[in-house]
Amino acid sequence: MIELTKTGIDGLDAILNGGIVTNSTTLVSGNPGAGKSILGLQYIYNGVEQFDEKGIYLSFEENESDLREAAESIGFDKWPEFVESGDIKVYDKQVLLRENDFSSSLELLLDDLEDDKYDRLVLDSLTMFELFFEDETEKRTYLLKFTDILNNNGLTSLLTNEQGAVFPDTDIGLENYLTDGNIYLIQTPTDTGVNRYVWVAKMRKQDIETDIYPMEISWGGIKVHENASAFSMMSEEDSPI
Ligand SMILES: Nc1ncnc2c1ncn2[C@@H]1O[C@H](COP(=O)(O)OP(=O)(O)O)[C@@H](O)[C@H]1O
Ligand SMILES: [Mg+2]
Repeated sequence: MIELTKTGIDGLDAILNGGIVTNSTTLVSGNPGAGKSILGLQYIYNGVEQFDEKGIYLSFEENESDLREAAESIGFDKWPEFVESGDIKVYDKQVLLRENDFSSSLELLLDDLEDDKYDRLVLDSLTMFELFFEDETEKRTYLLKFTDILNNNGLTSLLTNEQGAVFPDTDIGLENYLTDGNIYLIQTPTDTGVNRYVWVAKMRKQDIETDIYPMEISWGGIKVHENASAFSMMSEEDSPI
């Protein structure tokens, strides 16, 4: 039996056939505003709130106060409490970018990464993390080293990734091959706002639903609609009703 880690996100665990494979690393890709950071916050928050699993949140993009405000704005009320109690350990951009190379940053984290008490980790974002490296070879080496450390220490991790196109013209980035799973968040503009979708493109060792499902971001976070037909793919203007 493969052990699964539930995201606790409505609808997402169902299309993942139960959850993310425990001790694996999943890439969450999408363009700016697609919901990657919210998915990360929600995964860590739900871990503590619903499953009694502690988490580490690494942000190369935001300060601790920005993260708290983002979490509270969407209804993760107990985020500050969980950070205070140590159930959520935050390393924000101020801390992470203080070091000027990856090895020293990793040194800061290592004790916590190796600590059994944490089960979940989010790194937001890989795109910023990669700025530490000079070339593709160095990046590949460290990314492999990093994902090995995560998996060997019992962490089930989400790495977010800025990606403009779901089907890029150029080669798919190496990070897509170095991770066990691949989730894309997609947004398409409409007259009134955006339509949002989630696509689980790959999940090693798991039989998953590979259709594209509609999702929404609102109070309480992300909700995935498992029944695609209950949700119009057309903008209201094009709808026959
Ligand atoms: N409190 C909220 N209520 C409703 N929608 C929100 C809220 N907070 C953020 N969003 C939506 O989520 C989007 C941002 O998601 P985010 O996770 O920051 O994107 P990404 O990290 O992929 O750039 C915003 O563009 C906004 O539309
Ligand atoms: Mg973000």
